Amino acid sequence: MWKDWIRPLVRPLPQWSTIALAPPQHAVTATLRWEGSSADVTVDHTVASLNPLVIATSVDAGQHAVLEYRDNKTSRLLGVLHLVRDPLEIEAPSLALYRVASGEHYCLSWPRRTWNAWLQNRLMLKHRSSNGLNTDPVAVQQLMVAYLCPKPVVLVAVNTDEHQNLFPMDLIGPLERSGYFSLALRSTNVSVPILREARRVALCHVPATMKQVVYQFSAHHKNALTDWSALSFPVRSSREFGIPAVAEALRVQELTIVHSQEIGLHTFFICRVVSDEAGVQVAQLHHTAGFYQDHRRRRHVPFDEV
Ligand SMILES: Cc1cc2nc3c(=O)[nH]c(=O)nc-3n(C[C@H](O)[C@H](O)[C@H](O)COP(=O)(O)O)c2cc1C
Repeated sequence: MWKDWIRPLVRPLPQWSTIALAPPQHAVTATLRWEGSSADVTVDHTVASLNPLVIATSVDAGQHAVLEYRDNKTSRLLGVLHLVRDPLEIEAPSLALYRVASGEHYCLSWPRRTWNAWLQNRLMLKHRSSNGLNTDPVAVQQLMVAYLCPKPVVLVAVNTDEHQNLFPMDLIGPLERSGYFSLALRSTNVSVPILREARRVALCHVPATMKQVVYQFSAHHKNALTDWSALSFPVRSSREFGIPAVAEALRVQELTIVHSQEIGLHTFFICRVVSDEAGVQVAQLHHTAGFYQDHRRRRHVPFDEV
């Protein structure tokens, strides 16, 4: 069809693709390389802040490092981020922070890659005030490279006597070697002061079928929840903290917050996992980069899109 041919010429690929995936993802491996050394950081790197774009890891890779994302089936290099050690002091000596200096992906062939980035950037600048990311197109392009490793989506449950809330997050993850688990939350989120004080939270790993609900709950980044009983789905108490958690979650993890630090527009929470309860075994909602889904679609192995 001529429309299939003309579409990529005039319309950019979506930045993100929402997919259904059984966790943990085994599609992509992330490797950190520096001065002749390398380490698998697939479950040992997270986004600490979007603006500036900062990556946290428990691997000390010196001053300059390269983060590579590779497709496990084909061994093909999908994208790279060039990292520079961030001088920011952090009260967790086993963690290193790296600023993203530059990045590129190889999911599209050269002319299309450049053209698609140009179309995406033009659209971002047009909708700058409403894109929710508060960062410039170059950093968003680099962030998309970080999403080559599909990121699981959770609903974060917060509950104190005065405040309750449930909102979606995907800038989360384990920092395996140090045993930490981190969350990067925009400092304007209404629950940030409560999290800093209460220091406890429950992560509900949500089924892909809950996508609509999850997106509706992004409003709760700005407005706290008024009443747990008003939810359209059942909740049950988390094991140790008794925080209301999504009953149909694949997994509920309770975290204690051991340290929090503002980095740019985000608050970076460093946590320890207190409990980890398995629930239903279904596909989880994930986000990946739109150009990776397009690359897989052209190879006839797309992720299930929801
Ligand atoms: C699925 C999903 C995951 C999100 N993950 C995060 C996150 O990890 N950290 C964060 O600060 N905000 C996260 N957000 C919130 C958005 O970035 C944004 O702040 C929120 O939707 C409010 O948008 P607005 O400020 O444009 O109104 C997420 C939103 C959605 C829908």
